[in-house]
Amino acid sequence: MSNTDLNEIREEIEKFPISTSEGLEEYRLKYLSRNGIIPDLLSRIGDAPPEQRAMLGKELNQLKNLAQDKFKKAQQDLKSGASHKQKATDDITLQVEPQPIGSLHPITQVLDEIKSVFFRLGFTVASGPELEDDFHNFTALNFPPEHPARDMQDTFFIRKDENDTSNDRVLRTHTSPVQIRLMESQRPPIRAIMPGRVYRNEAITAKSYCLFHQVEALYVDTHVTFAELKETLIILAQMLYGEDVRYRLRPSFFPFTEPSLEMDVWWGNEHKGQWLEVLGAGMVDPNVFRAVDIDPEVYSGYALGLGIERMAMLRYGINDIRLFYDNDLRFLNQFL
Ligand code: PHE
Repeated sequence: MSNTDLNEIREEIEKFPISTSEGLEEYRLKYLSRNGIIPDLLSRIGDAPPEQRAMLGKELNQLKNLAQDKFKKAQQDLKSGASHKQKATDDITLQVEPQPIGSLHPITQVLDEIKSVFFRLGFTVASGPELEDDFHNFTALNFPPEHPARDMQDTFFIRKDENDTSNDRVLRTHTSPVQIRLMESQRPPIRAIMPGRVYRNEAITAKSYCLFHQVEALYVDTHVTFAELKETLIILAQMLYGEDVRYRLRPSFFPFTEPSLEMDVWWGNEHKGQWLEVLGAGMVDPNVFRAVDIDPEVYSGYALGLGIERMAMLRYGINDIRLFYDNDLRFLNQFL
């Protein structure tokens, strides 16, 4: 058995056309079956001069692998696309095999639901950058410089230029800076929601992650009242958590709203459960209006912000926030 012979067989194998299962079987019989060319050659290694046997064995094994790889690949191809086409041309009334389809991420699904509630209330959507400056993330929202309220949110600070701190940025810690951008670019009446990613420099645990999603809502006009805010919150809670949701509003503090409140919903049944905080809200602080040149004597407004992961975790009974970011299909496939 010379090298040229082996090369010829190799070429033959490479060129052998396989487009049907009959072709595949013919190929298998010719090269790989018990009486096929390759096993036959392998069984005759012993006939070769002893000093050539090792070399010959190695080459024959390579040839065998090549032939087997081609077989497996052709088998795969026939199983998937190719065989389909064959069937479809034979009988056009045959049903196509179902294609696996993707699904929306649970965060997107919950966000879509929140959006649809606000759309019914006449809100539009606005967005802003995730890399913010101090003015929009803090100062204009009535966080005075050095004020401890800045510590409420653990911030990622970004220094672009070692020698020039005026270019410092932060990864936005909340979606509230988009309120500022919106009011800078548009005069009231304003009625918009602002969904987006926010970042917090916190230890990563089952409960907190370095990023998450919020939706902000802002309504500014003449004569916007606290009663309207309350009404909106109740409608929101009922649409998201069901008509009979049990909720409570608690006084709270945010630098950019006055008065401020937090909303809790009851999670559980009549006997057993707990209050869970679902959003923060309040009447826009006059200092915020002043920062964007809107006259607080003429206009009033309310703002609210809620965390989407929190809502999705409640909704689906998910106990580890990190699951949202692992891209594990076993998790994601449950939200088809
Ligand atoms: N920005 C606040 C937070 O991240 C939430 C909030 C938004 C509170 C709007 C009041 C009004 O905690």
